[in-house]
Amino acid sequence: RLKLPQYNTIDDVIEQLHKAKNIVVLVGAGISTSLGILDFRSDNGFYSRLAQHGLSEPSEMFDIHTFREEPGIFYTFAKELLPETQHYSPSHAFIRLLEQKNKLSTLFTQNIDNLERETGLTDEKVIQCHGSFATATCIQCKHKVEGSLLYDDIRNQKISYCTECNQRPVKKRKLTSSSDRAFSDSNEDVKEEEEEADTAQAGVMKPDITFFGEALPDQFFEKVGSGDLEKTDLLICIGTSLKVAPVSELISLVPASTPQLYISRTPVRHTQFDVNFISPFCDWVIVELCKRAGWLEDLEKLCNE
Ligand code: OAD
Repeated sequence: RLKLPQYNTIDDVIEQLHKAKNIVVLVGAGISTSLGILDFRSDNGFYSRLAQHGLSEPSEMFDIHTFREEPGIFYTFAKELLPETQHYSPSHAFIRLLEQKNKLSTLFTQNIDNLERETGLTDEKVIQCHGSFATATCIQCKHKVEGSLLYDDIRNQKISYCTECNQRPVKKRKLTSSSDRAFSDSNEDVKEEEEEADTAQAGVMKPDITFFGEALPDQFFEKVGSGDLEKTDLLICIGTSLKVAPVSELISLVPASTPQLYISRTPVRHTQFDVNFISPFCDWVIVELCKRAGWLEDLEKLCNE
């Protein structure tokens, strides 16, 4: 009779951590909440904040059609998701530790805060499934810039416009009638209107975050098509509600016999894992796992770098 191996204790997990050579890690917003960045679907998460501000469908903020029509919605709220810090959590450090131990196959992250990179993880190991704030592109002329050039606008809740847009507008001089200008003693009114026309027609910059209605980055599909997932010998999901496809479907792409571990604050009901570590802080679980694996010193070293 065929029998799948059983992995259901912490000792099984530690044993597999030692044995594994192709670990796939899939993370979500929960690995960054200890750094003060909101997750999306918790009771006090980002989407509930948006709902409090009257947005009837909070995920609209990340809808590409809404963005094209009303970019101000995104720019009003995006600062809440922009990291104020370059620090990373023990959970981020753990992923780098797996790489240092030659165990990490791929990190799939749904996070847009780009903090995984701060740990020193090799770029090729990281798939930013939903893009990130690291770069931005003009929706009109496709000019690409460092994302940090938008940060002031994002923090000041101002729409960021392209400075390179090749579709320079014809200056629309809206002539005001003499009566309109009766109280104006200079050309200031006209000048202001010209400048407004200028910026209003330059393209809007969009951080290279994958919005609903947009395709995921090519690297995601290349990795999925590469066959690497079939070699996965341990799958670790941390801090994600697994509610957003196609990332949530990755789990079904690793072999059924591969041990699957879930670490989060809230259990998932729609997917089965071999082992679930449900804890208010995934960092606590990570520290405990490292302690039991004999890796605590290595983790601490990375956290203090
Ligand atoms: P969610 O907010 O849907 O899920 C975060 C999960 O992490 C929840 O299960 C929380 O309970 C858990 N959590 C929060 N803080 C935790 C902590 N300190 N320790 C352990 N668990 C914790 O976020 P994601 O699954 O990442 O899209 O959401 C996926 C996508 O939905 C995001 O990438 C975003 C959103 O629409 C874009 O940004 C384009």
